[in-house]
Amino acid sequence: MAAPTKFLLPDKTIESLDAYVATGGGEGLKKALKMTPAEVLGEVKKAGLRGRGGAGFPTAIKWTTIAHSPCPTRYMVCNAAEGEPGTFKDRTMIRRNPYQLLEGIQIAAYVISARKCFIGMKTSFEREYRRLAAAVEEMTARGMIHTPVQIVRGPEDYLLGEERALLEVIEGKEAMPREADNPPYQIGLFTRTMYDVYEPNPTDVNNAETLSNVGHILREGADWFRSMGTADTPGTMVFTICGDVQTPGVYELPMGTPLRELIDLWGGGTRPGRKVKAIYSGVTNPVITADNLDTPLDFGSMRKIGAGLGSGGYIIYDDSTCMVRVAHRYAEFLYLESCGQCTSCKDGGHAATIHLRKLVEGSGNSVDVAAAVQAAVKAPSGTRCFLPSELANIVPSTVNAFPDEFSSHYNRGCRDHADITVPKIADYDESARNFIYTHGRTTP
Ligand SMILES: Cc1cc2nc3c(=O)[nH]c(=O)nc-3n(C[C@H](O)[C@H](O)[C@H](O)COP(=O)(O)O)c2cc1C
Ligand code: SF4
Repeated sequence: MAAPTKFLLPDKTIESLDAYVATGGGEGLKKALKMTPAEVLGEVKKAGLRGRGGAGFPTAIKWTTIAHSPCPTRYMVCNAAEGEPGTFKDRTMIRRNPYQLLEGIQIAAYVISARKCFIGMKTSFEREYRRLAAAVEEMTARGMIHTPVQIVRGPEDYLLGEERALLEVIEGKEAMPREADNPPYQIGLFTRTMYDVYEPNPTDVNNAETLSNVGHILREGADWFRSMGTADTPGTMVFTICGDVQTPGVYELPMGTPLRELIDLWGGGTRPGRKVKAIYSGVTNPVITADNLDTPLDFGSMRKIGAGLGSGGYIIYDDSTCMVRVAHRYAEFLYLESCGQCTSCKDGGHAATIHLRKLVEGSGNSVDVAAAVQAAVKAPSGTRCFLPSELANIVPSTVNAFPDEFSSHYNRGCRDHADITVPKIADYDESARNFIYTHGRTTP
């Protein structure tokens, strides 16, 4: 087995700023500050860095739009809310090395001339909060914080990580996505109209892993970054693997690593006698079936098979799993996490959940399958955020991939299989290679 390329997730925790500096930490920021913001932006663009928060959006495009904005007030937001089920990469990275994230944030703030930086995370992320707060103090004392950083702690809601909801929380409101035709990099935080002049305050929202890459790119150069991963998605990704595998955990691997390698080599494969049946990247993208295990893990390749890379968190189900139960619990999760501001989202999630539950309990038939799919497909009409599109990805794809399993439940229900819970990871005991899950909200 070739040693994986690793730079984001050191084997040993970096305990102090001195230890970070000893590994070359801070050199990227130093180098950036000697360059013009446009030169730094050029390097990140050349590196081809794509957002690690789920969509793979090119980081340099956001930064360019903000850097060219006529509005002088700009903000920088790091999304460390990490609420995607099956994902624990940002928190693991912050635990092992909070300094690289702060270095990346400072470089991004320099490029866009941000007035202030915010890091949004859940109040329950106590350990990560303490590590980051201490690192901010250390780096401030060492003169490495040029743009002030504030850590904002928010509620447990899945929606906290949705960028427009995160902006609301930073402004002291609830985690409910604001209505906006424009993304935050066009219309951002604390907007106002002064003397008839509208101030859009463009705001960069980037995932914690995205930003953790930036200092390394500046220090080692775009060509070094591009020497890892694929042309579509250069670099590495910090993957989470959980569910029916023998060694669940968090592993940094080059982009383009086959999904099979993540499962069999790093995840230790399924238990003896079991086979992979279905894989989900969080609750965001369509199901991946076992015939696609050789797909390279990058944004383009995953899209080609009709799935998605997501935030690199993979939930594995083996052949002992009832896929009707999976569809039911995933739909229920999205229904319960929907904030209800958009009728089609909340109603679609509710209807899909109820029809799928009928199938699980034994009173459902083909009409319920069709109704669940229809409700999921229609959920994202005119809605404020992407959450209902996740429902539309999950339910129809699962029904299409396992039609016989759904029909075998007609007027019979699920008698032979255990229920499943959506694997929202609350903590990771690295020494025991064990994730600790929360059960999230319960059905009202
Ligand atoms: C329901 C929902 C939850 C999300 N949760 C997170 C999250 O926990 N962390 C994150 O970085 N992005 C999350 N996102 C994506 C963000 O809205 C945003 O696209 C991302 O932070 C942008 O960063 P990037 O360009 O660096 O990937 C979520 C999106 C949705 C629709
Ligand atoms: S789409 Fe759903 S989750 Fe998003 S704002 Fe509307 S109701 Fe809330």
